[in-house]
Amino acid sequence: MRAHNLYVSWLLCVVALAAPTCPPAPSISSTTIDSSPNPIGTLYPTSITGTINGTIAVVPIRYELARSIIPAQYGILKKAYTSLLPGFPADKYPLIVRSIIDHEVGVDGVALIPDFQSVHIFYPFVDLLADGYSSFVYEKYLILTGTNVAAIEGAEAYGIVAIPATFEPTNNAYAFSHFSEMGENSGAIFLNAYTNLSDCPAVTTRFEPLPFVGPWPLEFYMNVTNQPVFSNAVKCDQQITLFNTTLSEDKNAPVGLIGDITVSTPYLPSDSTFNDVYGLKVDIAFIENNLLDCSSLKGL
Ligand SMILES: *[C@@H]1O[C@H](CO)[C@@H](O)[C@H](O)[C@H]1NC(C)=O
Ligand SMILES: *[C@@H]1O[C@H](CO)[C@@H](O)[C@H](O)[C@H]1NC(C)=O
Ligand SMILES: *[C@@H]1O[C@H](CO)[C@@H](O)[C@H](O)[C@H]1NC(C)=O
Ligand SMILES: *[C@@H]1O[C@H](CO)[C@@H](O)[C@H](O)[C@H]1NC(C)=O
Repeated sequence: MRAHNLYVSWLLCVVALAAPTCPPAPSISSTTIDSSPNPIGTLYPTSITGTINGTIAVVPIRYELARSIIPAQYGILKKAYTSLLPGFPADKYPLIVRSIIDHEVGVDGVALIPDFQSVHIFYPFVDLLADGYSSFVYEKYLILTGTNVAAIEGAEAYGIVAIPATFEPTNNAYAFSHFSEMGENSGAIFLNAYTNLSDCPAVTTRFEPLPFVGPWPLEFYMNVTNQPVFSNAVKCDQQITLFNTTLSEDKNAPVGLIGDITVSTPYLPSDSTFNDVYGLKVDIAFIENNLLDCSSLKGL
């Protein structure tokens, strides 16, 4: 009897250890806030334009970890990122986690694809052209709205592994944990991404606003979001991000963030939690040039 009870408690213990312990599901106070319209929809009539509302976080990871993920044939432009990140730990590399909604993407005011959400895990400052100065972003996985076939095919055209997902909140850049008298910039914000691999989120982000943008300067975020993106390096994607439209100025000025991010495997080699990382929340307009020869982007 005693042995049996011991066995049962051993079994319960094993089951408890094996069961995934997800962070508690966030409670969403509002999902009705939408992103502002694309202010440059007709300004560049022959280009694809759109807006990207969301967060960008700088996650210091071990340099060796970044080196093991970025394909070995490409160098890493360490001097470029250390010059843009004063005070950044010398043995670390700035992984970028960008969770966003693409909104009103189209040509000359005509919608091209429905809005979609995504989490990007970016490896910036990659010396794709081996020229020692042109920075590119390497992107292996893109976790994005599973129903958006055009966006998924768009990512796959670059050799990116597109991971269909759902998001909490749905159809927004993030949700606010609470509203307060101080306005929307006073509350914590979050976004979770879910794939079909687990009931637990594949990625979570939760941030609180800071009274300043820092310690990483705005120029760093502008630099990274303007680097062309590649995966298999057959073609490159250029997004020219504009931080000087009504989306990113005055009452919409970028807000500094501090917060916590979790990323599960396989999107990083091990399930990872990063606490107290710094970032930015901002809405930006962009102009996109698709499927370019990567060598045509030399010098950026
Ligand atoms: C960006 O999205 C958030 C969350 O949905 C929203 O509160 C904010 O107003 C949006 N920003 C702009 C400039 O539209
Ligand atoms: C889960 O999603 C992947 C794509 O990321 C797909 O290949 C796979 O078939 C899906 N599995 C199920 C059970 O839906
Ligand atoms: C990013 O910063 C590096 C280093 O200062 C610079 O060489 C490069 O031109 C910048 N790129 C962009 C797109 O601003
Ligand atoms: C906005 O910024 C872009 C580059 O970031 C620049 O080309 C453009 O001239 C700027 N527009 C204004 C009105 O300052």
